[in-house]
Amino acid sequence: MKINQAEIVISAVSEKQYPEEQYPEFALAGRSNVGKSSLINKLINRKNLARTSSKPGKTQTLNFYLINESLYFVDVPGYGYAQVSKQERAKWGGMMEEYFKNREPLRAVILITDLRHEPTDDDVQMYDYLKFFELPVIVIGTKKDKIPKTKQDKHIKRSKKVLDMDPDDIFIPFSAETGDGKDAVWSAIKSFI
Ligand code: GTP
Ligand code: MG
Repeated sequence: MKINQAEIVISAVSEKQYPEEQYPEFALAGRSNVGKSSLINKLINRKNLARTSSKPGKTQTLNFYLINESLYFVDVPGYGYAQVSKQERAKWGGMMEEYFKNREPLRAVILITDLRHEPTDDDVQMYDYLKFFELPVIVIGTKKDKIPKTKQDKHIKRSKKVLDMDPDDIFIPFSAETGDGKDAVWSAIKSFI
């Protein structure tokens, strides 16, 4: 995919701030620090348009990125970060539900898991939550660059199994470091446009 334009349109905390102009939308979900913002940057060939950090909890709002005047990526705050108060967690839950439940242009959710590890209970819960809203999910196993080649297949199988994936959903191994899997992610996205 040739990227001519990529810009942040709004950082929203509630529905009334979502962009009015509608394009097919793809949201990124995943644990805090798993690599959601890094994946967006890699897909659109930008170094740090979506702000990344080695510290979890960098993304706190729903950040809408308009790409080529034809689709939005929505970077969302991660889950599963222990150092978060109950109050903040409730705020996060409300913001997510408002978005996933009602967002008409949302075509699919890109759920990012860390391919090095078994999906966590939070990952499984998030996957089930998205399926409850009948959303198509593209599951990405990221940080593939950190796993020896001989072990990658085993990790992929394990991730699919633990998530108990719907046969209609696809799993893509990926690395934001090397760009491995990038074309497969774009093809999956295009299949929903
Ligand atoms: P929050 O916004 O806090 O929820 O985090 P995030 O999911 O957006 O993670 P972010 O993209 O900020 O990345 C977190 C850290 O993981 C950064 O230090 C990235 O450089 C690193 N990282 C992300 N993807 C990869 C990858 O594929 N391989 C490697 N080796 N590191 C990665
Ligand atoms: Mg982020």
